[in-house]
Amino acid sequence: MCGIVGYIGTQAATDILIAGLERLEYRGYDSAGVATVEADKINCVKAKGKLFNLREKLEQTENKSQIGIGHTRWATHGKPEEHNAHPHLNADMSLAVVQNGIIENYLELKSELISKGIEFRSETDTEVIPHIISIFLANSSSLLEAVQKAIARLEGAFAIAIVDANNPFELIVARQQAPLILGFGQGEFFCASDITAVLPYTRTILNLENGEIARLTPLGVEIYNFAGERISRFPRTLDWNPVQTEKQGFRHYMLKEIYEQPAVVRTCLDTYINPNWHADENPDYSPVNIGLTPNLTDDLKHIQILACGTSWHAALVGKYLLEQVSGIPTTVDYASEFRYSPKPIIPNTLTIGVTQSGETADTIAALESERARRADLEPKFQAKLLAVTNRAESSIAQICDRIIDTQAGIEIGVAATKTFVAQVMGFYFLSLDLAFRQKTISNSRIGEIIEGLRHIPSQIETILDTQAEYIEELAHDFTAETEDFIFIGRGINFPIALEGALKLKEISYIHAEAYPAGEMKHGPIALLDNKVPVVAVAMPGSVYDKVISNAQEAKARDARLIGVTTAMNATEAAHTFDDMLTVPEVDELISPVLSVIPLQMLSYHIAAIKGLDVDQPRNLAKSVTVE
Ligand code: F6R
Repeated sequence: MCGIVGYIGTQAATDILIAGLERLEYRGYDSAGVATVEADKINCVKAKGKLFNLREKLEQTENKSQIGIGHTRWATHGKPEEHNAHPHLNADMSLAVVQNGIIENYLELKSELISKGIEFRSETDTEVIPHIISIFLANSSSLLEAVQKAIARLEGAFAIAIVDANNPFELIVARQQAPLILGFGQGEFFCASDITAVLPYTRTILNLENGEIARLTPLGVEIYNFAGERISRFPRTLDWNPVQTEKQGFRHYMLKEIYEQPAVVRTCLDTYINPNWHADENPDYSPVNIGLTPNLTDDLKHIQILACGTSWHAALVGKYLLEQVSGIPTTVDYASEFRYSPKPIIPNTLTIGVTQSGETADTIAALESERARRADLEPKFQAKLLAVTNRAESSIAQICDRIIDTQAGIEIGVAATKTFVAQVMGFYFLSLDLAFRQKTISNSRIGEIIEGLRHIPSQIETILDTQAEYIEELAHDFTAETEDFIFIGRGINFPIALEGALKLKEISYIHAEAYPAGEMKHGPIALLDNKVPVVAVAMPGSVYDKVISNAQEAKARDARLIGVTTAMNATEAAHTFDDMLTVPEVDELISPVLSVIPLQMLSYHIAAIKGLDVDQPRNLAKSVTVE
């Protein structure tokens, strides 16, 4: 959470910083600020609220400085007020710092600084950093050395960028467990929390690693470890099209990303399905190319999946597939819980972290702790880590033995849509690969599932073409007085009920809960009356009749019933449901990737009609890099 950006070069820094912050605003948006070096002074401008407030303030001044840092904030320590916005300055205001992360020992450092007579201007943890650097500067031969000494005093996970009016031709950055990339242009250099901020200027990127510090000057970049030793690293050129990060005529990123889903699934299929694999030829190689090595899959007896939020929902679909298709006992845990109450160690376990951003602090910490606690055990207990992520260059990719890159392209809307579908696709590929290796289902069933997967892109297109208007119309009914929603589903579609409820909560601020349909009568049914709509995910298959009966029980309590079901079932289902969101005919096993689409659209339209900030809902951030 929080986005940082820095620039040194030949152009006006403020414009580049603001453009970069715009692209990082998804990481936090409750206040923002920039600091530039001008005529040997720091010029720091901050504003509470969204970035346009800062932009407005900056428009009133002319600033030609060619070096600066910027920050967009998601408050952790201290309310979202201007005085808590970054950058933070030292006592004589000659040095400015932006930070993404948390300085865990800031209280101890703060009281030490206060006892030296330093006055604090904010309640943030970050403000200790400029003061400490400033103290070390007095006895250091360079800004770099002072920053190194200051970092040795900091505990926690952080990425920082620093400018100093007394060293006006250098920008120092450092990374410890929070993302930070460097961008290399022609006579200009950038740093940012995410590559999206620098893509309009350069595609030559270097991921700073944990424990590294870099000195950016107009002439180049030097990288050191925290001990001060120089390191040689090579940047790489990304194959990334900046157009991906534009809205392309859609009113919101979320809507654009919903409409990108057919293309995302096509890319996943093209990338991972082996086109030469034909069930009837009895091939001895896997139907999917996900590159799992034998050390990850041989003797596999157990899978544990760790994730947060929407990724946790994708993991639940994954559990269903890994158990029903691959026959491997699978557990799913919230990463934030697992890291403090890990499960007993089971041998021959594959641990999977699911995270679109690849930067979620809890998920990374859970995987790291899993690696650490198994490190000294005999080989069959050793950690085998696999990441399902949309960011192949992210932190999680660096700590795992292997990744499944979900290939969804960058997702900007804070509410995950296309990355969820891509994660679920990742689990189809994984479960088919393992099913093939472990011979848990026949090749002809594998062939059938693959055939079903091949139809998904056109089936999502059908949903988008046939349902959009109807769902928008329906959404109007829930924008004024509806305060609660219930979602129900069973089996492989229970996680879709959870996902439908989460999407609605996140962007429309309507309270929503999801239950396995059979659980309603054990308590939640008491909530129902004619003011609480119930959405039932009723896809034909093993539990269809059960879900319909559970929906009837809700109807008997006057709830308005919205059904997600297939077009062929619609006539029959019309007896049960007041409103129907229909999807094409589909094998139950594949149905989650279709049934989720109308739910994404329903929550999108409810929020859009309410005039809410769909892409940047209150209190949320796209990349949750703090615990
Ligand atoms: C929901 C949403 C969040 C994320 C969660 C995990 O729409 O976006 O619930 O799913 O913060 O994020 P990642 O997948 O980046 O680990």
